[in-house]
Amino acid sequence: MNYINPKLLFTDVPSGKVGWQSPSNIALVKYWGKKDMQIPANPSLSFTLCKSLTKTIVEFSPSHSNGAKLDFFFEGKSNERFAKKTTLFFQNLLDIFPFLNQLDFKISSNNSFPHSAGIASSASGMSAIAFALCDIERKYFDSLSDEDEFLRKVSFVSRLGSGSACRSVYGGLVSWGEISGIEKTSNLFGTKLSERINPIFNTYNDSILIVDAAQKKVSSSIGHGLMNSNPFSGKRFIQAYSNITELLKIIEIGDLEDFIRVVESEALTLHAMMMTSTPYFQLMKPNTISIIDKIWEYRKKTGTPVCFTLDAGPNIHLLYPDEYKYAVMDFINSELMEFTINNTIIHDKVGSGPKKLEL
Ligand code: PMV
Repeated sequence: MNYINPKLLFTDVPSGKVGWQSPSNIALVKYWGKKDMQIPANPSLSFTLCKSLTKTIVEFSPSHSNGAKLDFFFEGKSNERFAKKTTLFFQNLLDIFPFLNQLDFKISSNNSFPHSAGIASSASGMSAIAFALCDIERKYFDSLSDEDEFLRKVSFVSRLGSGSACRSVYGGLVSWGEISGIEKTSNLFGTKLSERINPIFNTYNDSILIVDAAQKKVSSSIGHGLMNSNPFSGKRFIQAYSNITELLKIIEIGDLEDFIRVVESEALTLHAMMMTSTPYFQLMKPNTISIIDKIWEYRKKTGTPVCFTLDAGPNIHLLYPDEYKYAVMDFINSELMEFTINNTIIHDKVGSGPKKLEL
């Protein structure tokens, strides 16, 4: 499947606008390492979030230049970096959406989370744009009327913008990458897990503790690339396959102790891969480690099934079921808050996925 379709060209070039909001996601089994064309080196699994999202409005009109012109406004201000990134993304999509060359674009995007929170917005941002493009196709061409087909293409296109973005297309628990024995999983798009989920996992909270808000020193794309020469990568990819297979069973049974063991190990392994790359790097901060120690102490003392995971950055994602919310809030306020920047915590939870904006 590659969705190349030279027929997607307008005879009458329209003007219009379309808007989508799309959430961020947090991986439980991490994607770290890829092959050409954003094919993941191993399958991954994530919770789609609810409150951490990007709202994007794409306005389009007939292009009078030779090829598309694209202006990008982020949080109300013209943003050259995002304009360049999106222009490149659109150029790479020309075989899939040949009509892109017939249009000029004004894209306006806002994140629900503070710009300075150090939260990556590529998953929410790229998936929101992919929704908008597939929506233009659905409106003006005789295709994508089937909702499943529409979402699959959105996920495929999102993946080409940012790998993990392909998982943000669906709510709940979403996998990406072929997993043997699990139907409909693919390296090309994300798959929503809808069966065999213990209901407790629909109630999960993710309190994101902001430890450092600075831009990452090493981008994810460089980090993925360094896995090609990492001496432990082969073992890591095998481990990720086995972790995802195990985690899927755990999620069905609802064993929180095993859930914690696999999820925390995945987070630490991700960072271990950074430390064992050449050149080596690491993205945690002293306060990241202090929080992890506090979580381990608290869990040992109280038995509360709260655990952490990490993205490619220093901020802690604290994961726990809703029934422990009040206890965990007390724990955060009394023991963890001091390690955050200006008490910045984003209390998020598992969400139901993207939505079209009424304009
Ligand atoms: O989608 P990218 O290229 O930003 O990579 C994301 C990598 C991690 O966030 C570290 C893990 C994941 O699976 O989301």
